Amino acid sequence: MSRLRLLCLALLAGSIVLLTGSPIRAVDKDELKVGKEIVDKLLGGAEVKTVADLKKKTSVDAIMTILGSPKAGGVGYGPKADISIEKRLQDLAKKGISAADLAKESGELTKAVQFARAVTEYNELYTPEKKVAGKDPKVWTKSSEDTRKASADLLEALKGKDEKKVHAAAKSLDAACNACHTVFK
Ligand code: HEC
Repeated sequence: MSRLRLLCLALLAGSIVLLTGSPIRAVDKDELKVGKEIVDKLLGGAEVKTVADLKKKTSVDAIMTILGSPKAGGVGYGPKADISIEKRLQDLAKKGISAADLAKESGELTKAVQFARAVTEYNELYTPEKKVAGKDPKVWTKSSEDTRKASADLLEALKGKDEKKVHAAAKSLDAACNACHTVFK
């Protein structure tokens, strides 16, 4: 095949990708970068107030994306980081976990919940000031508090390797994420 043909083929393939569009949501790259830096600091033990100034340089969309699909910029779950933290936590809420799997997976799960906790704690800084179009800031506050409580319970259950408590806390966490998403997402 001539070089020209090869080039044409490459261009054609490129435009197909562009035209069909990828299913990946575009999140602002700079915001995502700042969001990840913030979360790293929180995971390292920093308090939210010490990084609250960075709030303007990131966004709810960007920090939440950290928990979302790795294709969209999420950190991902597991050794291969090929699914989202959100998906793993949703499955855990739905199906629970066996004692054997918990023994294998508690380290990864703990990391995931720590990420979820850091993201949602920072997200409280974005609590809307007033009710707009029926979206009540109280829901934001309440679901944030519930998220905090449920992630603390889940971390404790993971530490104790108690699969029943892990399932119960995962359900509460999932419900808290959803309570906010139902109104604000
Ligand atoms: C207090 C409110 C609130 C809580 C609690 C909350 N979120 Fe979100 N989340 C949002 C909002 C608002 C968006 C939409 C952001 C946007 O697109 O601008 C969002 C978006 C997301 C997204 C991006 C999804 C997408 O593709 O649009 C993921 C992933 C996500 N949240 C995961 C979680 C998980 C997991 C939890 C619980 C551990 C959680 N969120 C708790 C408010 C919240």
